[in-house]
Amino acid sequence: MTQRFSFTLNATDGKARTGVIQTPRGEIRTPAFMPVGTAATVKAMLPENVRATGADILLGNTYHLMLRPTAERIDRLGGLHKFMNWDRPILTDSGGFQVMSLAALRKLTEEGVRFSSHIDGSKHMLSPERSMEIQRLLGSDIVMCFDECPALPASEETVAASMRLSMRWAERSKAAFGDRPGHALFGIQQGGVTKDLRAESAEALRAIGFDGYAVGGLAVGEGQEAMFGVLDYAPDMLPEDKPRYLMGVGKPDDIVGAVERGIDMMDCVLPSRSGRTGQAWTRRGQVNIKNARHMDDPRPLDETCTCPACRSYSRAYLHHVFRAGEMISGMLLTWHNLHYYQELMQGLRTAIAAGKLADFVRDFHALRAEGDI
Ligand code: GUN
Ligand code: ZN
Repeated sequence: MTQRFSFTLNATDGKARTGVIQTPRGEIRTPAFMPVGTAATVKAMLPENVRATGADILLGNTYHLMLRPTAERIDRLGGLHKFMNWDRPILTDSGGFQVMSLAALRKLTEEGVRFSSHIDGSKHMLSPERSMEIQRLLGSDIVMCFDECPALPASEETVAASMRLSMRWAERSKAAFGDRPGHALFGIQQGGVTKDLRAESAEALRAIGFDGYAVGGLAVGEGQEAMFGVLDYAPDMLPEDKPRYLMGVGKPDDIVGAVERGIDMMDCVLPSRSGRTGQAWTRRGQVNIKNARHMDDPRPLDETCTCPACRSYSRAYLHHVFRAGEMISGMLLTWHNLHYYQELMQGLRTAIAAGKLADFVRDFHALRAEGDI
């Protein structure tokens, strides 16, 4: 093993940071956006094309892969990287969050969660130990602790009890993960929108000790203002010398606000999912390609974008293939959206390194305020 897992901070600008996570499978430039490859594919994209957009790392899901095709099968076939033809880093979420939103007949106990598959109704169990085993079988580079996350709004007692359960599970996750050089285990802070609970959770995680720390339990219905309210203090509670990962976020303006507040990594289905529903994200905000105003428009989606959708196709064409239900519609819009997200991340990294983040953020908001033209 030549390269172990490590994090190097290169520059800061206010609370924002830029650096590099080193792994045996390659470097992750931070702040990083991780496209979501839930079922061993970033939908509508070849892995080499995801890489071409600038992605250094993908996210995969324990919950989906354990049900289909199963972690044991992926292991027998040589692991998730080989299976899906992506040889760079993969972070896997631990399953608890997806069980709560997708599975039927969930039963939560101290031991873990029993549930029925949303695919065929078959019965399964996830616990910290089983989640660590599945993520090891997948060959994940960054493994997430098994946690639980209540939907907001929830009572403070509910959030506190859930957070404390997640902290006990974090300890069991660490013990079950063991010592795996070159692989990382990240803790997940919970505690909803209550500062004392966030502090208690951060303290519990720091006492256990992790390779990185996620801020979980946000973007679950609380709204951007409340989320930024938590991000004004939550990242500061986590170790400065380890990566900080905001889970499941977000829209471009959420990402910019999170980076300004000290977040290093993010993931979201938004650029890929909305690419398949006719929504494009550009420097000027959101564009709905379904809209009849694009029907005769010979211009590209964004004349400054260098992605294949913008270099070679008109809005009229993108509108047509969406309306016609053609597969290339999802392919082109997903490519554009992922390209836009990665260009945004590169812009943030460059601005932080130059100490010019405030200028970058001002220009970002000014162009969006002008809107699509
Ligand atoms: N994805 C988005 N939020 C969360 C969270 O709080 N926990 C986990 N495990 N995954 C998430
Ligand atoms: Zn484009």
